[in-house]
Amino acid sequence: MPDNAHVIGTDPVAAARALRRGGLVALPTETVYGLAADATNADAVRRIFAVKGRPADHPLIVHVADAHGLDAWAARVPDYGRLLATAYWPGPLTLIFPKLPQVLDVVTGGQATVGLRVPAHALTQTVLHELGTGVAAPSANRFGRVSPTSIDHVLADIGPLLGDADYLLDGGPCTVGVESTIVDCTGDAPRLLRAGAVTVDMIEQTTGLDVLAADGTIRASGTLASHYAPRATVRVREADAFEPLDGAGLIAPSRLGTPAGMVRLLDAEDDGAYARGLYSALRAADEHGLHELIAVLPADAGIGSAIRDRLRRASH
Ligand code: TXA
Ligand code: MG
Repeated sequence: MPDNAHVIGTDPVAAARALRRGGLVALPTETVYGLAADATNADAVRRIFAVKGRPADHPLIVHVADAHGLDAWAARVPDYGRLLATAYWPGPLTLIFPKLPQVLDVVTGGQATVGLRVPAHALTQTVLHELGTGVAAPSANRFGRVSPTSIDHVLADIGPLLGDADYLLDGGPCTVGVESTIVDCTGDAPRLLRAGAVTVDMIEQTTGLDVLAADGTIRASGTLASHYAPRATVRVREADAFEPLDGAGLIAPSRLGTPAGMVRLLDAEDDGAYARGLYSALRAADEHGLHELIAVLPADAGIGSAIRDRLRRASH
């Protein structure tokens, strides 16, 4: 047991109670773990930034129980935004809308928009229904580090910074493993801000609209060049350009064997397993004290696109 006094458990009602009292809660979602506060409690939300070491102008996603949250937080929802919410919530999709006036500046980083998501994890669904309002939550890692996909990752990163009013809800390993797709819904057509398990093809099929590329006019910390980075230097390679490197870590699909002298960190039988195991593997590189690792990229399709995006950022 660590000597700090926060509680780790599997009780969503206790987690909701902690949120109502203004505490922070590590919340499991299907993508990654979040560090949550009641989104209507400015002091609680401010503590998230302190614990993470996150700049105050980086907006937080508001997690809501269901699509009714659209009307409670968003000022204007275009038809295509409603189609996306209906098709993919609960799920790994965050939608950005103009915010209602009552949405706190501390949540939105002073921006005029709010990010909304309905996570699919059953325990977190119960927390949100119990609480009856939204929770603001970034990924539960220190700023700039790899997102946590298990409660052990959360404990290692921020456990020592939490106190006895806080609660860590253990929902097991995350089933998707990379952060949600983020779609800006403030314009005439959907704009992709971050790739995730909901792909551009899925968004275009659902809305019948072409998806625009991110143009940098909206701030999103996940889009900083260097993010999701372990201490080890990450080198990305296409499968046909891979060459072994003695003493380095290896993240690669299973069909690629492990060359002698390399440390296998991830052996993914398919792209889903690649996504689920990716952040554990990046953390393992640091635990092994490796200076370098080579990541052999999956094909640019399905969740493979999100994996390629995160590895590119990790390699900066
Ligand atoms: O899967 C996920 O999205 C996880 C889980 C916990 O929900 N959350 C997550 O949060 O990855 P975070 O804060 O690490 O990344 C959220 C990204 C940031 O890049 C933030 O800048 C962007 O979403 N974002 C949030 N609200 C926004 C807004 N109003 N406009 C533009 N970007 C926004
Ligand atoms: Mg994050």
